[in-house]
Amino acid sequence: MRFHVVTLFPEAFEGATSYSILGRAVHRGLVSVTVTDIRKFTFDRHGTADDYQFGGGPGMVMKPEPIFRAVEDVLESLPPEEPDLIPILLMSPQGEQLNQRLIDELAVAPDIVIVCGHYAGVDERIRTGLATHEISIGDYVLTGGELAAMVVIDAVSRFIPDVVGSAENVHEDSITSGLLQHPLYTRPVEFRGMTTPEVLRSGNHAEIARWRGRQQSLERTLRLRPDLLRFAELSNSDRIYLEQLGWSGESGDPSNNPADQARERQALDR
Ligand SMILES: C[S@@+](CC[C@H](N)C(=O)[O-])C[C@H]1O[C@@H](n2cnc3c(N)ncnc32)[C@H](O)[C@@H]1O
Repeated sequence: MRFHVVTLFPEAFEGATSYSILGRAVHRGLVSVTVTDIRKFTFDRHGTADDYQFGGGPGMVMKPEPIFRAVEDVLESLPPEEPDLIPILLMSPQGEQLNQRLIDELAVAPDIVIVCGHYAGVDERIRTGLATHEISIGDYVLTGGELAAMVVIDAVSRFIPDVVGSAENVHEDSITSGLLQHPLYTRPVEFRGMTTPEVLRSGNHAEIARWRGRQQSLERTLRLRPDLLRFAELSNSDRIYLEQLGWSGESGDPSNNPADQARERQALDR
């Protein structure tokens, strides 16, 4: 998987891909992150990449020409048969919220271009004439798209084969599995009066699987994210267990909730 980031602040990416799991993935050649400086595609010696808004208003707008040229330069550097298929992501608080369906879709692309906005945002023509996807990482506004791009790189990379070790099965993680994961414990058995559940130390694998696999996971999901149950794959015994915990089978009306709508789309896509 090759990520190609287009940004005014290349230095923001220096640390993000050099440590831990992502750093190892880059080192092993499973993932690469190349960063293109938009200023190199400006026309004046000051590297002007932004300008005042037409119509007035606070904040500078990132100009279209340098971003188009920077992205085209990236596309030209790739194998000739690929450019039309390459996702060009514009990071934006106005975009579709990043979710597992989108991550699964992106994880199979050999190359992904990510455009980072800054200041008041980018000229609208980047959105209408260049980007293939407009992606938000949540309902809040960041100062720039760099952190959001790193979130995409990290979240997508976990689904590239061999990036995450086999011991850590990414499909069993919270949200990805459709539910929240069971509680995790390690040594010591007792810490400041708080003990670890005996069942986890019993050596009884069937009991451990039952405790973790469904009971704790279902209980926690019902308590913290009941909205997820609407789309989770539940067996009859899961439903019976949940009903014993007070679940009515209903988890609120999703019609006005963007997160629910996204999950509804995701469930329909499966
Ligand atoms: C201050 S924001 C601009 C927000 C813009 N004025 C608006 O109201 O839509 C600057 C840049 O940060 C990035 N950004 C901010 N919030 C984001 C979010 N939630 N998800 C993804 N990117 C975001 C985008 O690239 C955006 O162009």
